[in-house]
Amino acid sequence: MSYKVKDIGLAPRGELLIEWARDHMPVLALIRSRFELEKPLAGVKLGACLHATKETAVLVRTLEAGGAEVALCGSNPLSTHDDVVAALAATGTKVYAWREQTTEEYYWCVNKVIDHGPTITMDDGADLVSTLHSKRTEKLNLVKAGSEETTTGVIRLRAMHRDGALKYPIVAVNDTPTKRMFDNRYGTGQSTIDGILRASSVMLAGKVFVVVGYGWCARGVATRARGMGSHVIVTEVDPMKALEAVMDGFQVMPLMEAAKVGDIFVTVTGDTKVIDEQHIRVMKDGAMLANSGHFNVEINIPALEKLSKGKRRMRPDLDEYQMKNGRKLYLLAEGRLVNLAAAEGHPSEVMDMSFADQALVAEWIQKNKDLKTGVYDVPRDIDEMVSRIKLQSMGVMIDKLTDEQRKYLMSWSQGTV
Ligand SMILES: NC(=O)c1ccc[n+]([C@@H]2O[C@H](COP(=O)([O-])OP(=O)(O)OC[C@H]3O[C@@H](n4cnc5c(N)ncnc54)[C@H](O)[C@@H]3O)[C@@H](O)[C@H]2O)c1
Repeated sequence: MSYKVKDIGLAPRGELLIEWARDHMPVLALIRSRFELEKPLAGVKLGACLHATKETAVLVRTLEAGGAEVALCGSNPLSTHDDVVAALAATGTKVYAWREQTTEEYYWCVNKVIDHGPTITMDDGADLVSTLHSKRTEKLNLVKAGSEETTTGVIRLRAMHRDGALKYPIVAVNDTPTKRMFDNRYGTGQSTIDGILRASSVMLAGKVFVVVGYGWCARGVATRARGMGSHVIVTEVDPMKALEAVMDGFQVMPLMEAAKVGDIFVTVTGDTKVIDEQHIRVMKDGAMLANSGHFNVEINIPALEKLSKGKRRMRPDLDEYQMKNGRKLYLLAEGRLVNLAAAEGHPSEVMDMSFADQALVAEWIQKNKDLKTGVYDVPRDIDEMVSRIKLQSMGVMIDKLTDEQRKYLMSWSQGTV
C-alpha cells in the first residue's frame, strides 16, 4: 500500500481543512498556477519529512502540480493531523504519518520515504538526512540536494558539513529572512500561546510567564505573552540577546531565580536540559512547563519523573506530576513542540511564505545542475519575490527608488557637502 495513516475515512474532513489553508496561502497559490503550466519539477522524486499539517498538504499539492512525485512522513511523533494525511492519501500522495507514534513507528515512516528513492529531500529537523547518511547510505547517491526548514536542523547539518560527513548540498530555508523573521517570530509566537491555551485554558493575564531563550521564536512568544497581560521574564545565555530583551522592556534574570517565581515556563532554545533538575526542584506549586523548541529535550523530563511520585493525564496534552514534596507541576504536550502538538502549528498565512520558499528552492535545486556539497543560503531573488507577492496579496504598496537615489546609494564619491 502506498500510504499508512490512522483512518482513511477522515479524508473528507481533512480535505476541508486543506481547502481552508489553501485559501489563506496566496503566494503558494500563485506559484502553484505557474507550476501547473511549466512543470519545473517533472521527474523529481521528492522525499519530505515535515510536520504533517494542513499547510504542509498545500505545499505537497503545489509540488505535485509542478510534476514532483512526493512521499511524506511527519517530522514529529505528535504533530500529525490524521484527517489531513488521510485526505492526502486519498488523493494519491504516498504518505506515512499518524499522530502519537512510538520512536520505532516514527523511523519506520522515515524509512518508507527513503524507500521512495528521493532525488530531492525536504526536512524539518534533519531526521531524513541523518537517517540517509547513517542507516540508508545505499540511497544517498540518488539524492541531488535538499532543503531544511528549521533552526535545529540547520545547526545539525552545518555540524555534519564541518565534520566532512554531509554528502549532498542542502539549502537552509530556515535561515532566510522571509522564513525566520516571520515564521519563527510571528508564527511560533502566536501558535505557542494557542497551544498553551488549548492544552490548559488558563488565564494569561496576571501570570508570571518565563520565556527561556530570546532568539527569533522566543521573541515572538515573549511579545505575544506580554500582549495577553502576562508579566514576562526572559532568561538567556547570549549577552547580546539578553541586552535586546532588556531594551525591549522584559525583565531578564538567571533561570534559577525565575524558576522560583514563574507560573508558566516556555523553552524555545534548540538546546538540551535548559530546564533542569535544579530548576524543577524550586518551582512553585501549580507551575506549568511547555516547550516550543524542535526536540523534546529542552525540559529534563527524566528529572521531572524522578522527582515525582505519580502522574495523571488531566486533559489532552496536559499531564499533572505529583512531586514527592507535595507540589504539583504540569507538563504540556509531553514536552514536545506545544504549538504543533496541542494546537495546529503556525497560521496558514505565515506558512504561505515559508512554504513558498520551499517550493521555489525545490525548483532552484532542479534547475541548478552543478551544486556542490555544502549548506547554501536561499538565493536573494527568491526572498525578494516572496515578500513582494506577499505584500501584493495583502494590498500593501511600497515606494520605488528613483534613478538618482539608486545612483546615490551605489556611489562612494559624494561626501557630506
Ligand atoms: N515551535 C515551532 O513551530 C518552531 C518553529 C521554528 C523553529 N523552532 C525551533 O525553535 C528553536 C529555537 O529556534 P530560533 O530560530 O528561535 O533559534 P535562535 O538561534 O534564533 O535562538 C535560540 C536562542 O536560545 C538561546 N539559548 C541557548 N541555550 C540557552 C539556555 N540554556 N538558556 C537560555 N537561552 C538559551 C540562544 O542564546 C539563542 O538566543 C529551535 O529548536 C527551532 O528548530 C520551532
